[in-house]
Amino acid sequence: MRYYYILKNEKFLSLLAQLKELEAGREYCKHGIEHLMDVARIAYILSLEKGLDIDKDIIYTTALLHDVGRGEQYISGRDHHNAGAIIAGEILREMPYSSEETEMITSAIAAHGHKSDGDNLKGILYAADKLSRACFLCPANEKCNWDQDKKNHILRY
Ligand SMILES: [Fe+2]
Ligand SMILES: [Fe+2]
Repeated sequence: MRYYYILKNEKFLSLLAQLKELEAGREYCKHGIEHLMDVARIAYILSLEKGLDIDKDIIYTTALLHDVGRGEQYISGRDHHNAGAIIAGEILREMPYSSEETEMITSAIAAHGHKSDGDNLKGILYAADKLSRACFLCPANEKCNWDQDKKNHILRY
């Protein structure tokens, strides 16, 4: 299970702890380990349902790292998709992933803000990220800037 390396990576864990502090007072969706694992599991289900041949470790690693740039966005205003792809690349350099795998993971992270319904890593990451949110239970639902047709009025996964 190569994705275990992410869960033990010092940089990942310190950014996750920093993000927890930065989002302590946030009323909208947070981006902690629960969100990251929700996205990992849903993306893996989607991959199985669609019959895609994507390595489970690649899916989990991508999901765990996809919001790793969030803290930077709060601090500097820099877009977290691109910032996250760069940080993820730094973390992945210490991991047992090939350069092709690293490129696949970081490009999916960089793209996760853009709608994608492709039968590939980008498509399942985008979909799982959206499907993970229980909007209908969220107290900030009315104020949230997601379009009504994007919000989840039921949980499917
Ligand atoms: Fe994100
Ligand atoms: Fe996310």
